[in-house]
Amino acid sequence: MEEKVKALQHEVESFLVKSKEDLENFRLKFISKKGQLMSLFDDLKLASVEEKKKLGKTLNDLKQLAENRFKSLQESIENTTSSDRETKDLSLPVVPNKTGNLHPLNLTRYRIIEIFERLGFNVSDGPEIEDDWHNFTALNFPENHPAREMQDTFFVEKPARPEGGNPDVLLRTHTSNVQVRLMKNQKPPIRSIMPGRVYRNEAISARAHCFFHQVEGLYIDKNVGFSDLKQTLYHFAKEMFGKDTKIRLRPSYFPFTEPSAEIDISCLICHGEGCNVCKYSGWVEIAGSGMVHPNVLRNGGIDPEEFTGFAFGMGIERITMLRYSINDLRLFSENDVRFLRQFKSVV
Ligand code: DAH
Repeated sequence: MEEKVKALQHEVESFLVKSKEDLENFRLKFISKKGQLMSLFDDLKLASVEEKKKLGKTLNDLKQLAENRFKSLQESIENTTSSDRETKDLSLPVVPNKTGNLHPLNLTRYRIIEIFERLGFNVSDGPEIEDDWHNFTALNFPENHPAREMQDTFFVEKPARPEGGNPDVLLRTHTSNVQVRLMKNQKPPIRSIMPGRVYRNEAISARAHCFFHQVEGLYIDKNVGFSDLKQTLYHFAKEMFGKDTKIRLRPSYFPFTEPSAEIDISCLICHGEGCNVCKYSGWVEIAGSGMVHPNVLRNGGIDPEEFTGFAFGMGIERITMLRYSINDLRLFSENDVRFLRQFKSVV
C-alpha cells in the first residue's frame, strides 16, 4: 500500500493540465469521491493499526496536495481562457482589408483618357527609349538648332555619326515621339491620345523632376482646323476642371506645330482674382498645342496637301497638382503612404 501511495503522489505532482478537459480528468482521478485517491482511503480502513498510523498522515497530506494543485490549476486555466476571450471579442468592428489606393497620377490619367475617349480618341503607346529621329528630327527639330536644347536630354548612346544621319539613342523627352510612330503605322483619320513617362535632365525641385508624365494628343483628317483644336481643349478643360472653367490660347513656338499655342485655364483657386498659384495672372498653363507642321506630316508619310491635323501635349503632374491642390511635385515619387492614402481608389 505504501508503494501505491507513493506512485499516486508522483502522479498528482506530475499530471499535465493544459486545458479544461485535463483539469476535469485531474479532478475525477484525485479529488472526486470515486477517484483513485479516495479509494486509497477505503483501503486504509482495512489496514493494520500500524499501517493506519504510518500512512494516515501521508494520505491526508496527499489529499491536501491534490486539492491545492487543483485550485491553482483551475485559476491559471481560467485566466488564460479569459484573456483568450479578450483577443476574440466578436463584438469588435471588422478590420477592413485594405488593398491600397490608386496613385493620384493614375487617377488623373484615367480621367483624361475617359474624357478623350468620349470624343472618339483611342489610346496609343510608344517606347520610352527612343532614337533621335522619332524624338527630334521627324518632329522638325533641325540638327544643331537651339530648339533641341529646349529639352535637356538624357542620352543612352551617342555613337559616331554616319554620313547624313543621327544615330543617338535617348530617353524620350516628350510623348510627341509616339505621334511620328502613329503616322507611320496608320492612315488618317487618326484620333489618338498617348499617355506616358518622359525624362529630362533637370534638377529635382518642387516644380521640376527628371522624370514626369505627359499625354500627347493627335487628330489628323481632312479639313481639321484650328477651331477644332480650340473646341476640343475647351471641352477637355470644362470636363476636367468644372463647367465654369475658361481657356485662353497664347501664341507660342514648337518646331512640330505651326501655328503653335499654349493653353491656359482660368485659375481654379482664385477664379481670376490673382493668387500665388497663378502668380497673380488669373491664368495657369496646362498644355502646349498647335496645327501639325507640314514637314512633320510628310515625315510621317502623310500628304499635307490632303490632310491637316492638330496636336497637343499636357503634363499629368501639372493637372494633378491643380486638381488636388498639391504644391510639391516630389510628393508623387516619394511613396509616402500618408500622402498616397488621401486619394480614393475610384476614378
Ligand atoms: N512636346 C511638348 C513638350 O514636351 C508639348 C507639346 C506642345 C506637344 C505642342 C504637342 C504640341 O503635341 O502640339 O513641351
